[in-house]
Amino acid sequence: MDKILVHGGRPLNGHVKISGSKNSALPILAAALLTKEPCIISRVPDLSDIHYMLTILSELGCEVERASGVVTIKAENVITDAPYDIVRKMRASVCVLGPLLGREKEATVSLPGGCIIGDRPIDLHLRGFEALGAAVRVQSGNVKVLAPELRGATISLRGKFGSTVLGTDNVMMAAVLAEGTTVIDDAAEEPEVVDLANFLNKMGAKIEGAGTRRIIIEGVKELHGAEHEVIPDRIEAGTFLVAAAIAGGEVTLRRVIPDHLKAVILPLEQSGYKIHSTADSLTISPNGSRSAIQLDAQPYPGFPTDMQAQMCALLATTDGVSVVTDSVFPQRFMHVAELKRMGANIEMQGSTAVIHGISRLEAAPVMASDLRASAALVLAGLTAEGVTEINRVYHIDRGYESIDEKLNSLGAEIERVKA
Ligand code: EPU
Repeated sequence: MDKILVHGGRPLNGHVKISGSKNSALPILAAALLTKEPCIISRVPDLSDIHYMLTILSELGCEVERASGVVTIKAENVITDAPYDIVRKMRASVCVLGPLLGREKEATVSLPGGCIIGDRPIDLHLRGFEALGAAVRVQSGNVKVLAPELRGATISLRGKFGSTVLGTDNVMMAAVLAEGTTVIDDAAEEPEVVDLANFLNKMGAKIEGAGTRRIIIEGVKELHGAEHEVIPDRIEAGTFLVAAAIAGGEVTLRRVIPDHLKAVILPLEQSGYKIHSTADSLTISPNGSRSAIQLDAQPYPGFPTDMQAQMCALLATTDGVSVVTDSVFPQRFMHVAELKRMGANIEMQGSTAVIHGISRLEAAPVMASDLRASAALVLAGLTAEGVTEINRVYHIDRGYESIDEKLNSLGAEIERVKA
């Protein structure tokens, strides 16, 4: 198992290209199941989660080809049963349910297991399928959805913690081939949902309102093949902004959509950084003194839960008392215990971290627990005194394309070693 060694204390300077979005690419690849014709998806990041998704699609009968960021999928004949062996490796495999139900009117997928960032139910996805006329049965760890026919309906996807991103994707993918009109209320507004809707519309779907709380889908008889380029990864971009903020220096991100990052830019500006944007780039630099802030992770357009851990790492060395709450995944604070091993002064009060900024973290051996927590530890290591050793780095490879190489190209000193 690889580990990462981060030599702290080097500022970052220069520019870096942001990869295609993992969370856009995953459901978009699954959407190729909706047609017999080939779909060509470009700017697909080279990540282990993407690899799992392509393996699942192959197991479901798709022909899959991949060449430097471009994936071609042809789902001429599909099977509707996704086995536990592959599904268990990635929670996002649940997003094959919607397209299989839409196309074949049935699907069986293993229920996603527990997850370190909290209990992650799929009740809202299933509620949506039921509203479209599907019978849902959970048996022996599998969820089976079956519908002699799918009929449009009005569905609210509001849950205890707001809307659901993959739930909105799943219901949208089933509804595109349903008879009549489907209205999704309390839909997730994330840019990744819009990207999927744009792709589905290129395939011949009739979807309006993606990016708002209400999505309207006019069912069609069939979809055809299409080409699509995945949007830039706003969470990778946000992570590099915070990396530059933590390490110091001036860094420009290229190939970004600055609009998608408003909720990350604002608190960084409030905390004392200057951020300049163009149509497709962002440049961050220090702007005098830094100050503590309050943050609450919320569904889009709020501050993203996927950036919460990285901001905790930054605020750990920002003067004053910062307060960070996660209202999307209230238990997503595994990184706090690890940051404390590096000397951070953080106290948990329910789903809120109260962070008393200290002047410098100290390197320590730490354990990555999930994707974003591992990113936070790498960022903390950039500023810590000494060499931070991060174990279980396979988590980081699930969602960041060559993060060590990209940070090194900006002046960091990160080594990857076999444990
Ligand atoms: N929820 C329910 N019932 C459901 C579905 C969700 O109660 O049926 C709850 C969840 O437990 C959570 C909240 O609703 O408290 C939001 O979860 P959501 O369904 O939106 O999460 P997701 O769609 O499973 C995606 C991203 C996550 C990201 C969340 C929130 C992908 C592949 N994953 O997950 O990304 O944190 O939206 O923005 O798109 C990551 O990239 O590190 C990551 C975890």
